[in-house]
Amino acid sequence: MFSARVEPAWSLEAWRVAARAAWCANVAPDQVDWEGGAQGGLLATPEVTTLPAQREAPRVSSDFLALAGAVLCHRDPHRHGLLYRLLWRMGQGERGLLAHATDADVHRAGVLAKAVRRDSHKMKAFVRFREVPGEANAFVAWFEPEHHIVDRVAPFCARRFAGMRWAILTPYRSAHWDGDALAFGPGGVRADAPADDAREALWRTYYANIFNPARLNPTMMRSEMPQKYWKHLPEAALLPELLQSAGARVREMAERMPEAPRRRIPEAAPEPLLRADDSLDAVRAAAAACRRCELWQPATRTVFGEGPPDARIVLVGEQPGDEEDLSGRPFVGPAGKLLDRVLAELGIDRGALYLTNAVKHFRFEQRGKRRLHRNPTSSQVAACRPWLQQELARLDPQAIVCLGANAARAVLGGDFQLMAQRGQWRVMADGARALATVHPSWVLRQPDAKAREDAYALLRQDLALLVPKVRASA
Ligand code: URA
Repeated sequence: MFSARVEPAWSLEAWRVAARAAWCANVAPDQVDWEGGAQGGLLATPEVTTLPAQREAPRVSSDFLALAGAVLCHRDPHRHGLLYRLLWRMGQGERGLLAHATDADVHRAGVLAKAVRRDSHKMKAFVRFREVPGEANAFVAWFEPEHHIVDRVAPFCARRFAGMRWAILTPYRSAHWDGDALAFGPGGVRADAPADDAREALWRTYYANIFNPARLNPTMMRSEMPQKYWKHLPEAALLPELLQSAGARVREMAERMPEAPRRRIPEAAPEPLLRADDSLDAVRAAAAACRRCELWQPATRTVFGEGPPDARIVLVGEQPGDEEDLSGRPFVGPAGKLLDRVLAELGIDRGALYLTNAVKHFRFEQRGKRRLHRNPTSSQVAACRPWLQQELARLDPQAIVCLGANAARAVLGGDFQLMAQRGQWRVMADGARALATVHPSWVLRQPDAKAREDAYALLRQDLALLVPKVRASA
């Protein structure tokens, strides 16, 4: 047997040094006693770092290192050995091992990493600083994490509370930020942190006021804010009373009705009726008040088409993205930039084209601060189609290019198959020619540089079919 020492026990660097030494010395997992080493036990076995290397260090993926970094923060005394077993097995040829979620070792590592992530998340959410009496801008928080996560979470706190001087004390370790640098020290006891400060009284008053008894879901609340964290939260002292009185407060609120409900979004002027001879600008103004589907509500604005009213060529995209929604202009984000590049390479002046979308509101899913694009549903495309028809009727283009499957279906019919039918001119009922090609975002979404290059070439090849039309209309 050999022993392996990891100090501190959650350090990825320290574990890697020991694991590399054991691997290079060809020491099998069942020959290493990690637990004794990790706990600093005095074993009469040689340490792996003293053994001569017999082979090269193994190569490991960044996924494995990220997993190991999380697993090491768990308190499970077997975690070092578990990780070495995974390393050993991958080194012995089980290359795709981490993808096998049902493998006992992979599963166990996943469980430990998840617990650490959850604990870290709770620490970020529930650390509460108290001002140190008599010191300007100095704060101390007491926290009792389940796992060894202080080193993992402290950099987040340093970014988030960069302008304060603070310390976070836990039973096993403390982190200190002086406004410039992070430092770590030994653990403490709860009495080391101040008990209360004036801000807490203010915070409790605020919390009691924003607490909405009508939205109370105690089960959800307990799972999001488990009771074991309540001791860190100044507002927790209020919770039993707030929970108990919630029913009576809801009844009281109901009795105070009816007060006119406050609308989050002011009523827009109703969409005006359009006549056949109304201008494109009149259509644009009418579309700004569109409520034909639900997408108007979360979106910032209608993103209507843009370009000269006498443009002979129209490009139809799918729907505005994040940047288009904010700026109100089509194709100004990453997909628009890629489109600009293809057009420039082909010598086509974007300013001579009319650019619009099949759906004129941004459909997205909010994830934290990010708004992730979601494809519009077929009923949303159908609800928006009259606007596209009104645009095309005013413009009377000679050629229409549809970018992506949704645009193609909106213009060329619901059964249009993009990859099978792209790159061919078709004659529309009114005599205009229409062509469909891949969407620039699809090019950007390709998994690697080679696939992106190929997708770009496809888009360019299809858009090159526009060149004679552009010349003819110039
Ligand atoms: N994608 C589209 O389809 N349209 C835009 O305007 C931007 C991105």
